[in-house]
Amino acid sequence: MSNFIGKLSKLQLPFFSSLHAYFDMGTSQTRIAVREKGVVFREATYIGLNTRTKEYIFFGNEAKTILGKTPDFIRIDKPIVNGILSDFDGEVAYLSYAIDKAINPYISQHFLIKPTVSALTSAPSIATEIEKRAVEESLTKAGCRSVTVIERAIATASGCGFNIFSHHPHYIIDMGAGLIELSIVSGGGIVAQKTLKNAGDHMNKQLASYVYMKHGIILGENSCEEIKKELLNFTSEEIATTVRGKSLETGLPKSVKLKTSDVKEALSSTFHQILDTTKELVEISPPEVADEVFQNGIALTGNMAAIPGIDHFFSKELKIETYVAKQYADATIHGLIHLDKNPDDLFKLVGYQQ
Ligand SMILES: Nc1ncnc2c1ncn2[C@@H]1O[C@H](COP(=O)(O)OP(=O)(O)OP(=O)(O)O)[C@@H](O)[C@H]1O
Ligand SMILES: [Mg+2]
Repeated sequence: MSNFIGKLSKLQLPFFSSLHAYFDMGTSQTRIAVREKGVVFREATYIGLNTRTKEYIFFGNEAKTILGKTPDFIRIDKPIVNGILSDFDGEVAYLSYAIDKAINPYISQHFLIKPTVSALTSAPSIATEIEKRAVEESLTKAGCRSVTVIERAIATASGCGFNIFSHHPHYIIDMGAGLIELSIVSGGGIVAQKTLKNAGDHMNKQLASYVYMKHGIILGENSCEEIKKELLNFTSEEIATTVRGKSLETGLPKSVKLKTSDVKEALSSTFHQILDTTKELVEISPPEVADEVFQNGIALTGNMAAIPGIDHFFSKELKIETYVAKQYADATIHGLIHLDKNPDDLFKLVGYQQ
């Protein structure tokens, strides 16, 4: 029966009209967009569970800001780890909160018959079929009537403004919190890809252990992220800041001075790994693809593309022109919106109409 109603909703009959929504379930940030409204939700992908009552009581940005400050019985978690849904119940609770906050106001504008939500989302290519199914089911359980999951790299490439169906390859490096996806997209598919789990979250941990080893102080996850964002750049600018953490020796708060060069030193192995992997992907690509990549350059997306000077640093090290995509931070969600505008394109990707 529900299958029958689901099919009717896809027919776009006035009685079963659906509201098209797009979900980028990122490791650090969840973005949601609604057709013709644009991005309506952008919050940290964090949840807070009261382990005594088993209720989820904190969500999104609020949950992130209280990380490390809660009593033992409140657990702050990330339901997405390294781009993969790893806490199903937590993600359902999170999506229910997000849908209620960002999509339900549009649904309640319809007085008589409420439209159902038709969701388009993406999953990283390293996700297994079971993990992709979990993404689909989490959205269904959170209230979406139908869910379509496409490859994340395809959505991101489309969000960069590339014609993903052309046979001119495009090289995109999506640098997020949980994954660095390096993909060459052409002819409506991924022709070569490599994925690194050492992304933004890993860099925060690397910085924490660097400060711990060098200065003997313990820093929280959020502090490390803020320091990284403030100090890291690949320009010639050397920024310094004073950071406060807990002294390993005395257990009391202690301040130390950190500079851009410290952060670069702490993260240098990860950046070298990204550069090596970028070169390897070109090396394993067919010669025609490699040649066009050299001509077209490499587009950077994800919030790590905001690191000042990263494009010039990559261009210099790789000897391939590298540039920051226009809508780098929201490329994936913009790609989903774009693909949904053209049902024929989506049909070519998934084999059915959304
Ligand atoms: N200026 C900056 N310098 C360094 N890192 C930054 C900067 N701005 C943001 N970041 C990092 O970018 C990461 C978040 O990127 P993004 O929002 O693209 O990830 P996501 O989409 O949530 O995750 P993913 O796509 O990996 O699942 C975080 O690790 C954050 O610390
Ligand atoms: Mg992302």
